[in-house]
Amino acid sequence: MTNLAIAANGLRKSYGDKVVLDGVDLNVPEGTIFSLLGPNGAGKTTAVKILSTLISADPASGAIRVGGHDLTTAPQAVRASIGVTGQFSAVDNLITGEENMLLMADLQHLPKREGHRTAAELLERFDLTDAARKPASTYSGGMKRRLDLAMTLVGNPRIIFLDEPTTGLDPRSRHNMWQIIRELVSDGVTVFLTTQYLEEADELADRIAVLNDGKIAAEGTAKELKRLIPGGHVRLRFTDPTSYQSAAFALHDATRDDESLSLQIPSDGSQRELRAILDRLDSATIEADELTVHTPDLDDVFFALTGGGANVPTQPKEAVR
Ligand SMILES: Nc1ncnc2c1ncn2[C@@H]1O[C@H](COP(=O)(O)OP(=O)(O)OP(=O)(O)O)[C@@H](O)[C@H]1O
Ligand SMILES: [Mg+2]
Repeated sequence: MTNLAIAANGLRKSYGDKVVLDGVDLNVPEGTIFSLLGPNGAGKTTAVKILSTLISADPASGAIRVGGHDLTTAPQAVRASIGVTGQFSAVDNLITGEENMLLMADLQHLPKREGHRTAAELLERFDLTDAARKPASTYSGGMKRRLDLAMTLVGNPRIIFLDEPTTGLDPRSRHNMWQIIRELVSDGVTVFLTTQYLEEADELADRIAVLNDGKIAAEGTAKELKRLIPGGHVRLRFTDPTSYQSAAFALHDATRDDESLSLQIPSDGSQRELRAILDRLDSATIEADELTVHTPDLDDVFFALTGGGANVPTQPKEAVR
Protein backbone atom coordinates (compact mmCIF):
# COMPACT_ATOMS: atom_id res chain seq x y z
CA MET A 1 0.00 0.00 0.00
CA THR A 2 1.32 3.42 -0.95
CA ASN A 3 1.49 6.26 1.53
CA LEU A 4 -1.00 9.05 1.19
CA ALA A 5 0.41 12.55 0.95
CA ILE A 6 -3.07 13.95 1.48
CA ALA A 7 -5.86 12.12 3.27
CA ALA A 8 -8.99 14.09 4.03
CA ASN A 9 -12.22 12.53 5.24
CA GLY A 10 -15.52 14.34 5.23
CA LEU A 11 -14.06 17.77 4.59
CA ARG A 12 -16.68 20.40 5.46
CA LYS A 13 -16.74 24.16 5.18
CA SER A 14 -19.60 26.64 5.32
CA TYR A 15 -19.66 30.41 5.22
CA GLY A 16 -22.71 31.42 7.25
CA ASP A 17 -25.47 29.25 5.88
CA LYS A 18 -23.72 28.75 2.56
CA VAL A 19 -22.33 25.22 2.42
CA VAL A 20 -19.20 25.21 0.25
CA LEU A 21 -17.76 21.77 1.03
CA ASP A 22 -20.31 19.22 2.14
CA GLY A 23 -18.29 16.19 3.20
CA VAL A 24 -15.51 15.77 0.66
CA ASP A 25 -13.04 12.86 0.75
CA LEU A 26 -9.66 13.45 -0.86
CA ASN A 27 -6.92 10.83 -0.98
CA VAL A 28 -3.72 11.55 -2.86
CA PRO A 29 -0.89 8.98 -2.93
CA GLU A 30 2.65 10.29 -2.59
CA GLY A 31 4.40 11.20 -5.82
CA THR A 32 1.24 11.55 -7.89
CA ILE A 33 -0.68 14.43 -9.45
CA PHE A 34 -4.23 14.89 -8.29
CA SER A 35 -6.48 17.37 -10.04
CA LEU A 36 -9.56 18.97 -8.56
CA LEU A 37 -11.95 20.24 -11.21
CA GLY A 38 -15.11 22.19 -10.78
CA PRO A 39 -17.00 25.23 -12.01
CA ASN A 40 -16.34 28.72 -10.66
CA GLY A 41 -17.30 28.91 -7.02
CA ALA A 42 -17.32 25.12 -6.55
CA GLY A 43 -14.91 25.35 -3.62
CA LYS A 44 -11.57 24.40 -5.18
CA THR A 45 -9.66 27.30 -3.67
CA THR A 46 -11.43 26.71 -0.36
CA ALA A 47 -10.18 23.09 -0.37
CA VAL A 48 -6.64 24.22 -1.18
CA LYS A 49 -6.72 26.83 1.58
CA ILE A 50 -7.92 24.30 4.15
CA LEU A 51 -5.39 21.62 3.17
CA SER A 52 -2.58 24.18 3.29
CA THR A 53 -3.65 25.44 6.76
CA LEU A 54 -4.56 28.95 5.54
CA ILE A 55 -8.12 28.57 6.80
CA SER A 56 -9.64 25.93 9.05
CA ALA A 57 -12.20 23.31 8.12
CA ASP A 58 -15.49 23.15 10.01
CA PRO A 59 -15.25 21.11 13.23
CA ALA A 60 -17.71 18.57 11.81
CA SER A 61 -15.04 17.45 9.32
CA GLY A 62 -13.35 14.09 9.70
CA ALA A 63 -9.61 13.60 10.10
CA ILE A 64 -7.36 15.47 7.68
CA ARG A 65 -3.72 14.52 7.27
CA VAL A 66 -1.23 16.22 5.00
CA GLY A 67 2.32 14.87 4.71
CA GLY A 68 1.44 12.41 7.44
CA HIS A 69 0.62 15.19 9.92
CA ASP A 70 -2.74 15.98 11.42
CA LEU A 71 -3.99 19.34 10.20
CA THR A 72 -5.54 20.35 13.53
CA THR A 73 -2.93 19.12 15.96
CA ALA A 74 0.24 19.66 13.91
CA PRO A 75 -0.33 22.58 11.51
CA GLN A 76 3.33 23.65 11.77
CA ALA A 77 4.54 20.25 10.62
CA VAL A 78 2.07 20.39 7.73
CA ARG A 79 3.34 23.84 6.77
CA ALA A 80 6.93 22.59 6.80
CA SER A 81 6.16 19.91 4.22
CA ILE A 82 4.09 21.90 1.74
CA GLY A 83 4.36 24.72 -0.77
CA VAL A 84 1.41 26.69 -2.11
CA THR A 85 1.03 28.63 -5.34
CA GLY A 86 -2.24 30.46 -4.88
CA GLN A 87 -4.78 31.33 -7.53
CA PHE A 88 -3.72 34.94 -7.21
CA SER A 89 -0.06 35.76 -7.45
CA ALA A 90 2.03 36.08 -4.29
CA VAL A 91 4.66 38.05 -6.20
CA ASP A 92 5.48 41.47 -4.75
CA ASN A 93 5.57 43.76 -7.78
CA LEU A 94 7.56 46.51 -6.11
CA ILE A 95 10.70 44.44 -5.67
CA THR A 96 12.78 42.38 -8.10
CA GLY A 97 12.35 38.69 -8.87
CA GLU A 98 15.52 37.93 -6.95
CA GLU A 99 14.34 39.93 -3.93
CA ASN A 100 11.04 38.03 -3.99
CA MET A 101 13.00 34.79 -3.90
CA LEU A 102 15.26 35.95 -1.06
CA LEU A 103 12.22 37.05 0.90
CA MET A 104 10.83 33.52 0.61
CA ALA A 105 14.20 32.09 1.67
CA ASP A 106 14.09 34.36 4.75
CA LEU A 107 10.54 33.25 5.57
CA GLN A 108 11.78 29.65 5.35
CA HIS A 109 14.65 30.55 7.73
CA LEU A 110 17.29 29.45 5.24
CA PRO A 111 20.80 30.63 6.17
CA LYS A 112 21.80 33.65 4.04
CA ARG A 113 24.26 31.82 1.82
CA GLU A 114 21.93 28.91 1.21
CA GLY A 115 19.11 31.36 0.48
CA HIS A 116 21.19 33.03 -2.23
CA ARG A 117 22.21 29.72 -3.71
CA THR A 118 18.63 28.40 -3.76
CA ALA A 119 17.31 31.63 -5.26
CA ALA A 120 19.92 31.61 -8.02
CA GLU A 121 19.28 27.94 -8.82
CA LEU A 122 15.53 28.31 -9.02
CA LEU A 123 15.70 31.53 -11.05
CA GLU A 124 17.96 29.68 -13.47
CA ARG A 125 15.65 26.65 -13.62
CA PHE A 126 12.65 28.86 -14.39
CA ASP A 127 14.53 30.84 -17.00
CA LEU A 128 14.36 34.05 -15.00
CA THR A 129 18.06 34.75 -14.48
CA ASP A 130 18.15 37.60 -17.01
CA ALA A 131 15.15 39.28 -15.43
CA ALA A 132 16.18 38.55 -11.83
CA ARG A 133 17.33 42.10 -11.07
CA LYS A 134 14.31 43.80 -12.67
CA PRO A 135 11.21 44.81 -10.71
CA ALA A 136 8.55 42.10 -10.90
CA SER A 137 6.10 44.76 -12.12
CA THR A 138 7.89 44.61 -15.49
CA TYR A 139 7.38 40.82 -15.84
CA SER A 140 4.87 39.31 -18.25
CA GLY A 141 2.03 37.18 -16.85
CA GLY A 142 3.91 33.99 -17.71
CA MET A 143 7.12 35.21 -16.06
CA LYS A 144 5.21 36.13 -12.92
CA ARG A 145 3.57 32.73 -12.83
CA ARG A 146 6.99 31.06 -13.13
CA LEU A 147 8.36 33.30 -10.38
CA ASP A 148 5.36 32.37 -8.25
CA LEU A 149 6.11 28.68 -8.64
CA ALA A 150 9.85 29.22 -8.11
CA MET A 151 9.00 30.97 -4.82
CA THR A 152 6.84 28.01 -3.81
CA LEU A 153 9.77 25.64 -4.32
CA VAL A 154 12.13 27.44 -1.93
CA GLY A 155 12.52 25.06 1.01
CA ASN A 156 12.05 22.02 -1.23
CA PRO A 157 8.46 21.09 -0.25
CA ARG A 158 7.41 17.46 -0.80
CA ILE A 159 3.77 18.39 -1.44
CA ILE A 160 2.74 21.35 -3.53
CA PHE A 161 -0.64 22.92 -4.07
CA LEU A 162 -1.13 24.68 -7.37
CA ASP A 163 -4.36 26.64 -7.62
CA GLU A 164 -4.96 27.25 -11.34
CA PRO A 165 -1.25 27.49 -12.17
CA THR A 166 -1.71 28.09 -15.88
CA THR A 167 -4.72 30.39 -16.03
CA GLY A 168 -3.92 33.21 -18.43
CA LEU A 169 -0.82 31.58 -19.90
CA ASP A 170 -0.33 31.21 -23.65
CA PRO A 171 -0.13 27.63 -25.02
CA ARG A 172 3.67 27.55 -25.04
CA SER A 173 3.99 28.83 -21.47
CA ARG A 174 1.29 26.38 -20.43
CA HIS A 175 3.23 23.47 -21.93
CA ASN A 176 6.41 24.72 -20.23
CA MET A 177 4.58 24.79 -16.92
CA TRP A 178 3.32 21.24 -17.50
CA GLN A 179 6.89 20.13 -18.14
CA ILE A 180 8.02 21.74 -14.88
CA ILE A 181 5.20 20.02 -12.99
CA ARG A 182 6.11 16.65 -14.51
CA GLU A 183 9.73 17.12 -13.48
CA LEU A 184 8.67 17.87 -9.93
CA VAL A 185 6.64 14.69 -9.81
CA SER A 186 9.46 12.60 -11.25
CA ASP A 187 11.48 13.85 -8.26
CA GLY A 188 8.82 12.32 -6.02
CA VAL A 189 6.88 15.51 -5.23
CA THR A 190 3.11 15.23 -4.81
CA VAL A 191 1.04 17.80 -6.70
CA PHE A 192 -2.48 18.88 -5.84
CA LEU A 193 -3.69 20.89 -8.79
CA THR A 194 -6.85 22.80 -9.47
CA THR A 195 -7.59 23.84 -13.00
CA GLN A 196 -10.25 25.14 -15.35
CA TYR A 197 -8.50 23.49 -18.28
CA LEU A 198 -9.76 19.98 -18.65
CA GLU A 199 -7.04 19.30 -21.16
CA GLU A 200 -4.56 20.11 -18.39
CA ALA A 201 -6.07 17.57 -16.00
CA ASP A 202 -6.22 15.05 -18.84
CA GLU A 203 -2.57 15.68 -19.65
CA LEU A 204 -1.12 15.72 -16.14
CA ALA A 205 -3.29 14.14 -13.51
CA ASP A 206 -3.07 10.55 -12.29
CA ARG A 207 -6.48 11.01 -10.75
CA ILE A 208 -9.16 13.63 -11.19
CA ALA A 209 -12.06 14.59 -8.95
CA VAL A 210 -14.93 16.74 -10.12
CA LEU A 211 -16.34 18.98 -7.41
CA ASN A 212 -19.94 20.09 -7.77
CA ASP A 213 -22.52 21.32 -5.28
CA GLY A 214 -20.13 20.79 -2.38
CA LYS A 215 -19.55 17.12 -3.18
CA ILE A 216 -17.27 15.01 -5.33
CA ALA A 217 -19.51 14.27 -8.33
CA ALA A 218 -17.05 11.74 -9.75
CA GLU A 219 -13.49 10.61 -9.26
CA GLY A 220 -11.14 8.48 -11.28
CA THR A 221 -8.51 8.53 -13.99
CA ALA A 222 -9.28 10.64 -17.06
CA LYS A 223 -10.08 7.40 -18.88
CA GLU A 224 -12.50 6.22 -16.20
CA LEU A 225 -14.28 9.57 -16.14
CA LYS A 226 -14.68 9.57 -19.91
CA ARG A 227 -16.27 6.14 -19.72
CA LEU A 228 -19.05 7.61 -17.57
CA ILE A 229 -20.30 9.49 -20.56
CA PRO A 230 -22.06 7.60 -23.30
CA GLY A 231 -21.83 8.83 -26.86
CA GLY A 232 -18.67 7.25 -28.30
CA HIS A 233 -19.41 6.37 -31.92
CA VAL A 234 -18.03 5.84 -35.37
CA ARG A 235 -19.46 7.94 -38.16
CA LEU A 236 -19.42 6.85 -41.78
CA ARG A 237 -20.20 9.35 -44.50
CA PHE A 238 -21.11 8.59 -48.11
CA THR A 239 -21.46 10.71 -51.21
CA ASP A 240 -23.20 8.07 -53.30
CA PRO A 241 -26.82 7.38 -52.16
CA THR A 242 -26.65 3.75 -53.42
CA SER A 243 -23.55 2.97 -51.33
CA TYR A 244 -25.23 4.68 -48.42
CA GLN A 245 -28.32 2.48 -48.78
CA SER A 246 -26.29 -0.73 -49.00
CA ALA A 247 -24.20 0.31 -46.00
CA ALA A 248 -27.34 1.05 -44.01
CA PHE A 249 -28.57 -2.42 -44.94
CA ALA A 250 -25.26 -4.10 -44.02
CA LEU A 251 -24.97 -2.20 -40.73
CA HIS A 252 -28.57 -2.47 -39.61
CA ASP A 253 -27.72 -1.41 -36.03
CA ALA A 254 -26.47 2.00 -37.22
CA THR A 255 -28.41 5.20 -36.73
CA ARG A 256 -29.23 6.70 -40.12
CA ASP A 257 -28.98 10.31 -41.13
CA ASP A 258 -30.52 10.24 -44.60
CA GLU A 259 -29.99 13.92 -45.20
CA SER A 260 -26.21 13.87 -44.77
CA LEU A 261 -25.90 10.26 -46.03
CA SER A 262 -24.15 9.23 -42.86
CA LEU A 263 -24.39 6.36 -40.43
CA GLN A 264 -23.57 6.44 -36.77
CA ILE A 265 -22.51 3.23 -35.02
CA PRO A 266 -22.11 3.12 -31.24
CA SER A 267 -18.49 2.21 -30.48
CA ASP A 268 -15.85 2.64 -27.81
CA GLY A 269 -13.38 3.51 -30.56
CA SER A 270 -11.21 0.47 -29.82
CA GLN A 271 -9.22 -1.21 -32.58
CA ARG A 272 -11.31 -4.36 -32.16
CA GLU A 273 -14.63 -2.59 -32.70
CA LEU A 274 -13.26 -0.54 -35.60
CA ARG A 275 -12.00 -3.69 -37.29
CA ALA A 276 -15.39 -5.36 -36.87
CA ILE A 277 -17.11 -2.40 -38.55
CA LEU A 278 -14.57 -2.36 -41.39
CA ASP A 279 -14.91 -6.13 -41.87
CA ARG A 280 -18.66 -5.80 -42.25
CA LEU A 281 -18.21 -3.04 -44.83
CA ASP A 282 -15.57 -5.07 -46.66
CA SER A 283 -17.66 -8.20 -46.88
CA ALA A 284 -20.46 -6.14 -48.43
CA THR A 285 -17.85 -4.43 -50.67
CA ILE A 286 -18.85 -1.01 -49.48
CA GLU A 287 -16.45 1.88 -49.24
CA ALA A 288 -17.29 4.88 -47.07
CA ASP A 289 -16.02 8.28 -48.19
CA GLU A 290 -15.16 9.31 -44.68
CA LEU A 291 -14.78 7.53 -41.37
CA THR A 292 -14.45 9.43 -38.11
CA VAL A 293 -14.19 8.16 -34.55
CA HIS A 294 -15.81 10.21 -31.81
CA THR A 295 -14.86 9.61 -28.19
CA PRO A 296 -16.18 11.72 -25.34
CA ASP A 297 -13.57 14.07 -23.89
CA LEU A 298 -13.25 15.55 -20.42
CA ASP A 299 -15.28 18.58 -21.52
CA ASP A 300 -18.25 16.27 -22.06
CA VAL A 301 -17.68 14.77 -18.62
CA PHE A 302 -17.44 18.20 -17.03
CA PHE A 303 -20.64 19.44 -18.65
CA ALA A 304 -22.53 16.29 -17.79
CA LEU A 305 -21.44 16.32 -14.15
CA THR A 306 -21.61 20.01 -13.37
CA GLY A 307 -24.52 21.14 -15.48
CA GLY A 308 -27.12 20.30 -12.83
CA GLY A 309 -29.50 17.39 -13.25
CA ALA A 310 -26.76 15.14 -14.56
CA ASN A 311 -27.98 11.60 -15.08
CA VAL A 312 -24.73 9.73 -15.03
CA PRO A 313 -23.59 7.31 -12.35
CA THR A 314 -21.62 9.02 -9.62
CA GLN A 315 -18.67 6.66 -9.50
CA PRO A 316 -16.81 4.90 -12.27
CA LYS A 317 -17.06 1.15 -11.72
CA GLU A 318 -13.32 0.67 -11.54
CA ALA A 319 -12.65 3.63 -9.27
CA VAL A 320 -10.64 2.57 -6.25
CA ARG A 321 -11.24 4.78 -3.28
N1 LIG B 1 -14.24 34.32 2.96
C1 LIG B 1 -15.40 33.97 2.39
N2 LIG B 1 -16.57 34.37 2.88
C2 LIG B 1 -17.75 34.00 2.32
N3 LIG B 1 -17.86 33.21 1.22
C3 LIG B 1 -16.72 32.78 0.67
C4 LIG B 1 -15.43 33.12 1.21
N4 LIG B 1 -14.48 32.53 0.47
C5 LIG B 1 -15.14 31.84 -0.51
N5 LIG B 1 -16.47 31.99 -0.38
C6 LIG B 1 -17.51 31.37 -1.23
O1 LIG B 1 -17.25 29.97 -1.30
C7 LIG B 1 -17.55 29.47 -2.59
C8 LIG B 1 -16.34 28.72 -3.13
O2 LIG B 1 -15.30 29.63 -3.41
P1 LIG B 1 -13.91 29.15 -3.99
O3 LIG B 1 -13.04 30.35 -4.11
O4 LIG B 1 -13.39 28.03 -3.16
O5 LIG B 1 -14.32 28.60 -5.41
P2 LIG B 1 -13.40 28.06 -6.61
O6 LIG B 1 -13.88 26.69 -6.93
O7 LIG B 1 -11.97 28.24 -6.27
O8 LIG B 1 -13.82 29.03 -7.79
P3 LIG B 1 -12.95 29.66 -9.02
O9 LIG B 1 -12.94 28.62 -10.08
O10 LIG B 1 -13.74 30.83 -9.42
O11 LIG B 1 -11.60 30.00 -8.49
C9 LIG B 1 -17.96 30.68 -3.42
O12 LIG B 1 -19.36 30.71 -3.47
C10 LIG B 1 -17.41 31.84 -2.66
O13 LIG B 1 -18.21 32.97 -2.86
MG1 LIG C 1 -10.43 29.30 -7.07
